[in-house]
Amino acid sequence: MRASRSSTTIFSLCSVLLISFSLEASSSSIQDNFVQCLTNHSYPSHPISEVISLPNNASFKSVLQSKVRNLRFMTPSTPKPLVIVAAKNESHVQHTVLCAKSVGLEIRIRSGGHDFEGVSYVSRKPFIVLDMFNLRSIDIDIANETAWVQSGATLGEIYYGIANKSKNHAFPGGVCPTLGAGGHFTGGGYGNLMRKFGLSVDNIVDAKIVDAKGTIIDRESMGEDLFWAIRGGGASSFGVILSWKIKLVKIPSTVTVFRVERTLEQGATDIVLQWKKVADKLHEDLFVRLVIQLVNGSKEGDEKTIKASFIALFLGQSKSLLNLLKQSFPKLGLQRKDCIEMSWVESILYWADFPNGTAPEVLLNKNPNEIIFFKLKSDYVKEIIPRDGLEAIWKKMIEGGGVRMQWNPYGGKMSEILESETPFPHRKGNAFKIQYSVGWREDGSKTTTNWYLDLIKEFHKSMTLFVSKDPREAFLNYRDLDIGTSSTGKYKEGRVYGTKYFKGNFDRLVKVKTMVDPDNFFRNEQSIPTSP
Ligand SMILES: Cc1cc2nc3c(=O)[nH]c(=O)nc-3n(C[C@H](O)[C@H](O)[C@H](O)COP(=O)(O)OP(=O)(O)OC[C@H]3O[C@@H](n4cnc5c(N)ncnc54)[C@H](O)[C@@H]3O)c2cc1C
Ligand SMILES: *[C@@H]1O[C@H](CO)[C@@H](O)[C@H](O)[C@H]1NC(C)=O
Ligand SMILES: *[C@@H]1O[C@H](CO)[C@@H](O)[C@H](O)[C@H]1NC(C)=O
Ligand SMILES: *[C@@H]1O[C@H](CO)[C@@H](O)[C@H](O)[C@H]1NC(C)=O
Ligand SMILES: *[C@@H]1O[C@H](CO)[C@@H](O)[C@H](O)[C@H]1NC(C)=O
Ligand SMILES: *[C@@H]1O[C@H](CO)[C@@H](O)[C@H](O)[C@H]1NC(C)=O
Ligand SMILES: *[C@@H]1O[C@H](CO)[C@@H](O)[C@H](O)[C@H]1NC(C)=O
Ligand SMILES: *[C@@H]1O[C@H](CO)[C@@H](O)[C@H](O)[C@H]1NC(C)=O
Repeated sequence: MRASRSSTTIFSLCSVLLISFSLEASSSSIQDNFVQCLTNHSYPSHPISEVISLPNNASFKSVLQSKVRNLRFMTPSTPKPLVIVAAKNESHVQHTVLCAKSVGLEIRIRSGGHDFEGVSYVSRKPFIVLDMFNLRSIDIDIANETAWVQSGATLGEIYYGIANKSKNHAFPGGVCPTLGAGGHFTGGGYGNLMRKFGLSVDNIVDAKIVDAKGTIIDRESMGEDLFWAIRGGGASSFGVILSWKIKLVKIPSTVTVFRVERTLEQGATDIVLQWKKVADKLHEDLFVRLVIQLVNGSKEGDEKTIKASFIALFLGQSKSLLNLLKQSFPKLGLQRKDCIEMSWVESILYWADFPNGTAPEVLLNKNPNEIIFFKLKSDYVKEIIPRDGLEAIWKKMIEGGGVRMQWNPYGGKMSEILESETPFPHRKGNAFKIQYSVGWREDGSKTTTNWYLDLIKEFHKSMTLFVSKDPREAFLNYRDLDIGTSSTGKYKEGRVYGTKYFKGNFDRLVKVKTMVDPDNFFRNEQSIPTSP
């Protein structure tokens, strides 16, 4: 029986709960060699000792936990790094790469720490964590409509910084303010400006990285192949991103948001059917996300029902929005009172579920208010799901006990960009992306965890008929180790998950990888392999 638990909504939790865990003191000669190597190489002006934490140091636990975003990877049995280097200067990054390589330790690079599978701070092999959170400067040039942002900057800091300088500029990226620029951008980076401006990677014009030789290179010195690969292919296979140069986009000073919610009893099925027909064809100034979840019926004792929430951002005023929806999405029945006009930065707070009236300075908080246990998966939908299909999905949701879905429409600018332009391949022909999630608070025991993991796996399986096939596509930023992993770094294993994340771009990524990191130093469970 499934229905005995219920999943927790996770994406209002963009907002640190510290749970204690014990550490086994680990020391080994490899760790000593690594630290000695760093000490030998560090510059007197930037002493490395200040940025190193070892497991027996008082700071180790808090540094490690400060960027854990999923309680599944904060348990006593979660493997811990031998050393954490929280770099404060580029030279620390270079020396960490060189020393890890020379002593034969795996490196995990962490910026915001939101990796869904904890890949940025957990490994089954002896490893160190290179933390980027101290490297977080943001340098915005409104006249040139560009900015240099370091990897450790959060989206909230970047958005706040832009809004503090201009009412008419923005940057297209994720809706959760605590995401790190390092990991988020290199995995694609999508948000509610995607239909108008594309992904974060479509708006990146330069980058500085430390390569496998420990050298700092930029777009000019790295060449277009590597610059292509890090914009969507996952930089953790290629090097360490120090900073990105982003291109700002122009937006009106007033935007409009709404959230309209309907249960099955209130006609949700008809509205969802129309959403599916029109969401990717609507005017590109409009993004309407659909969240579908299991809720209580309206009266006590009612059966559980499905609630569909339509959450929108429109780049304009409510009057034009109402006209537009009256013509293209009448079933929603949008009214003037549903629409709220505000500035772009306020719309970020609205989308991140902060209460009305919250000051934008909250975006400068780098840590969420709470973290929970969770698991996510993704899918892409290209064809219409018929009414009986939808009804079968509702039935499965009600019987299954609470997998939540978020449907994010594509189209607009996303369809104009060729699949091969960046490693992110899910462009024209995709109507929307599905995000599946389960979240829980009760405990991290194997029994509870497996119950939720099985629940989401089974639900994902039940959707096979409606989603992309050969390959069944997946989104890199929604990392999912169920779709394949490689412990050996072999091409054959890598191809399994590689074609799902990158389709035809996988082979070019392999070529770039073989060229820039032939020894496969930068690796993880789902990194790009070298060619066979
Ligand atoms: C609450 C929440 C909301 C989210 N919302 C969105 C969203 O709206 N849109 C979206 O696209 N995604 C979203 N995501 C997914 C998110 O984009 C990815 O998890 C992303 O990888 C996070 O980047 P990070 O720097 O915070 O994570 P990290 O865990 O630090 O890094 C993620 C990956 O990137 C690598 N990496 C990190 N920094 C560097 C670096 N400097 N150089 C090289 N490699 C590096 C890591 O090794 C790891 O493989 C969300 C995730 C969460 C948990
Ligand atoms: C560090 O330097 C010392 C003294 O020069 C040397 O003996 C040692 O081998 C070096 N260690 C490493 C790991 O480079
Ligand atoms: C961390 O631990 C090492 C080795 O145990 C010690 O030499 C160093 O002084 C400690 N650093 C701090 C900041 O406590
Ligand atoms: C790193 O150190 C160099 C040399 O002192 C300096 O020029 C540079 O600005 C520093 N970088 C950061 C990010 O502090
Ligand atoms: C734009 O950037 C260029 C090169 O960095 C600089 O020379 C120029 O002065 C900048 N333009 C403005 C308007 O600031
Ligand atoms: C916002 O801009 C003002 C004026 O330019 C500046 O003084 C202030 O420091 C900025 N705030 C932040 C948090 O950067
Ligand atoms: C739904 O019902 C459960 C008990 O059946 C109750 O604990 C919970 O608070 C209710 N939730 C809402 C949103 O009404
Ligand atoms: C938000 O607050 C403002 C005033 O602070 C108020 O005018 C507005 O109606 C509120 N909006 C909502 C949706 O509650």
